[in-house]
Amino acid sequence: MTDRPTILLVAPTFYDVSYSINPWMDPGAWARDPRGMHRRAMASFDALREALGTAGFQVEVMEGAPGQPDMVFPANAAVVLDGKAVLARFRYPQRRGEEAPFAAIFEDLRARGLLDSVETLPEGCYQEGAGDCIWDASRGHFWAGFGPRSSREAADAMARHFGQEVVALELATEQSYHLDVCFCPLAGGEVLYYPPAFSPAALREIRARVPAAQRIEATEDDLRHFSVNAVNRGDTVVMTHTTPHLRTELGSRGYRVLEVDLSPYMMSGGGAYCMTLRLDRVSTSVRRAAAA
Ligand code: ARG
Repeated sequence: MTDRPTILLVAPTFYDVSYSINPWMDPGAWARDPRGMHRRAMASFDALREALGTAGFQVEVMEGAPGQPDMVFPANAAVVLDGKAVLARFRYPQRRGEEAPFAAIFEDLRARGLLDSVETLPEGCYQEGAGDCIWDASRGHFWAGFGPRSSREAADAMARHFGQEVVALELATEQSYHLDVCFCPLAGGEVLYYPPAFSPAALREIRARVPAAQRIEATEDDLRHFSVNAVNRGDTVVMTHTTPHLRTELGSRGYRVLEVDLSPYMMSGGGAYCMTLRLDRVSTSVRRAAAA
């Protein structure tokens, strides 16, 4: 495994919006100018890569596969912690063809020493990677979204694979079809989240674990800007162009916001976080053992 902050991207060579499996996806808008959209997507990708470099990441860019446009969202491909990657199982047939090329990508990362092991989930449940299973470094556990995409049982499977606590949160709307659309833990212990996305039980769970002073409530406008779908490292937050509300809120808490125009990807229901996958996350127990 690697101890440098390392983040995976997948090049948008084969990216497009040609089907619709979430309410944000707009194949019609893409089809009006596919070449122009693709050009814009390439430029947005380069801007994201640069912002992640500025945030201090070593960026690994892998190639996607023809006919699998959503591979550009590697957050959905696996959950990674302590050098171990657990590969995703996609709910929709449109994305299942990503499983084999992603398995090859993770095997390659293992061969290059960026991961120690690559594991698969038991049959019979869906799990869409770090998009639905987010490591909270301040609290030392995963938060797992379930409902629209990942299954409830996947949260328990993840707890077994990683030997870590997993707090399952039911997602109540198709608009927030992955947890990362509506929930983002920050390095200072704050959690940026959109309350209407969650079931009452999930909201109680969040509010029991995150004190009021650390809860940042996103507005519907923030959600529409895909601002909750952010990549955070230390005091830097990388996100697609945001709202005055969040710019002020994060700024007053000492965060520096790097904004990138990711509109070609928002047309597929994605923002900065889901276009990435952290490869270097380490749990508290492993960190302690390494220090001992
Ligand atoms: N079009 C993709 C899908 O519907 C977008 C995935 C965005 N990923 C995320 N983690 N939010 O699956």
